Formats: sequence, C-alpha cells, structure tokens
Amino acid sequence: MAHLHTRFVGRAICYEESVTSSNEVLKKLADKNAADGTVCVAEEQTGGKGRLARGWFSPKGKGLWFSLLLKPSFLPQEAPKMTLLSAVAVVRAIREVCQVEAQIKWPNDVLLNGKKLVGILTEMSAEFGHINYLVVGIGINVCVPHDMVPEELRPAAISIADAVEGKVDRVALLAKVLDYLESYYDIACREGFGPILDQWRDYSITLGKQVKVIAPDKTYVGTALDIDETGALQVKKEDGTVETVLAGDVSIRPA
Ligand code: ATP
Ligand code: BTN
Repeated sequence: MAHLHTRFVGRAICYEESVTSSNEVLKKLADKNAADGTVCVAEEQTGGKGRLARGWFSPKGKGLWFSLLLKPSFLPQEAPKMTLLSAVAVVRAIREVCQVEAQIKWPNDVLLNGKKLVGILTEMSAEFGHINYLVVGIGINVCVPHDMVPEELRPAAISIADAVEGKVDRVALLAKVLDYLESYYDIACREGFGPILDQWRDYSITLGKQVKVIAPDKTYVGTALDIDETGALQVKKEDGTVETVLAGDVSIRPA
C-alpha cells in the first residue's frame, strides 16, 4: 500500500470484495497462524458486527471496514485498552487526513458533530491467562450517502463526506490509521498504556459531561470524571458516590 510506513501492521493484507464480517475472516486466519499485524479489508460486509450483538451497516465501497490481528504479550486484562488505543489512532488519522474534529465517546465510538462516525470492536482469544490474539475491527463511514443509511440509524450516523468538501482518499486514510495503530501499540508494549490514555483524554467528548449509564442491572445519571488506569470510566453519581464503569455491556448516553 502506497503511503504505509509500518514495520509489521498491514504488511500482510487480505482484501475482500464482500465478507460477512472482517473480524470473523481474521479470526479464521488467526486460527491458521496468520502473521501478527495482518489486516483484512472488505469493500462490503453483509453481517458487520457491533458491540453487544448489534449490527454494523457496511455498504459496498462507502467506508473503511477492516480488522487488524495482533499477538501482544501483555495480559488479557489489558486488552480493553486496545479499543481506547485504536480510537486514539483513528481520531488522530482522521484529523490529519480529513481536517475534521472527530472526538471519542467512551468506550468505543468516534463521533463527528455528535454523531457516530466510527465503531470499534475488539475481540480476544485467550487461555491460561495468556492472549492468543486480538482482533481489532474498525468501521469508518467515509462516504455513506445519508439516504442509503437505514432509517433507524439516520439521526445518529454521519460520514466524513458529510463534513468535508471533495473526495476522501480512503487508501491514504487507511494507511494513516495503520501507521498510528502501530506507533501507539509500540508505545503501549514498551511503556504501558499511560501515554495513550493521556492522549485519549485530550480527544474525549465524554469527560466532564453528564451521562446516563445503562447497565443490565441498573441505570443512573452522573458526571463522567475520568478514566482510570484500566480504561474504566469513573462516574460521580448525584449522591456523590463514584462508580467505576467497565466497558463490558454498558451503554452511555448524554444525560
Ligand atoms: P453505546 O456504545 O453507548 O451502547 P451505540 O448505539 O453507539 O451506543 P454500539 O454498540 O457502540 O452502540 O454500536 C452499534 C450501533 O451502531 C448499532 O446498534 C447501530 O445503532 C449503530 N450503527 C450500525 N452501523 C452504523 C454505521 N455504519 N454508522 C453509524 N452507526 C451505526
Ligand atoms: C460498535 O460501534 O459497536 C462497533 C462497530 C465495529 C464495526 C467494525 S467494521 C470492521 C469490523 N468488522 C465487523 O464486523 N465489525 C468491525
């Protein structure tokens, strides 16, 4: 790929016209011993997956729908921070290549003008306290025409093309995202996730805001104070107590 400056990320690329989900393709390749850093890019996904068994709309040629295989030596409990790291890499790349102020909504969304531009889904295979592999799936709406978006998603979804003049160079954007994924991943492996979490704070739209936390067993309102060193969100409730919210199966809404 023309603009790529990486050592190992994206050096093996599998490009597909149509897949159910690039995460699923990459998990199968991982089971056949695909190389660390392998990327699967799809023009279209017929069964794109989001968090919490939700779907991800991935029409042909209108986005960057791709997944990255990583084989880190850090512990499984560190893995959720790869989602935060990926969001930082994506936001920085989008800001640089497209000149738009994308921001991060904890834990896994990138927003533009308050609407969802990017979704990230990290999946892990681990056993005996050791990570076999991670698959980081990233979906970026590049130029999905608004009237093509399913009606129920329309009010909350946006594409880069909705906010910039002219054509977005998908290959240049993909290369920049992969460049930043590798450089932040290298930092995380060398020094831990601390510097990445600092960068995440700079790009966050969640911190300092009133949020509604929707967990399977309870729903409450509070102020998003910070993320802790595990990447969990600290929310100060109206009674003054602080809850630590793990990404797991929680949804956050503006309150
Ligand atoms: P939360 O993360 O707080 O639960 P969310 O609605 O963003 O909120 P996710 O699970 O992160 O939930 O993302 C999946 C959701 O994204 C889907 O349920 C759907 O509503 C929406 N969605 C699916 N495809 C797209 C797309 N291409 N662009 C924007 N949004 C999409
Ligand atoms: C979410 O917002 O819930 C996460 C959406 C993740 C979508 C990407 S598109 C590429 C990769 N393949 C998938 O099936 N999902 C991820």
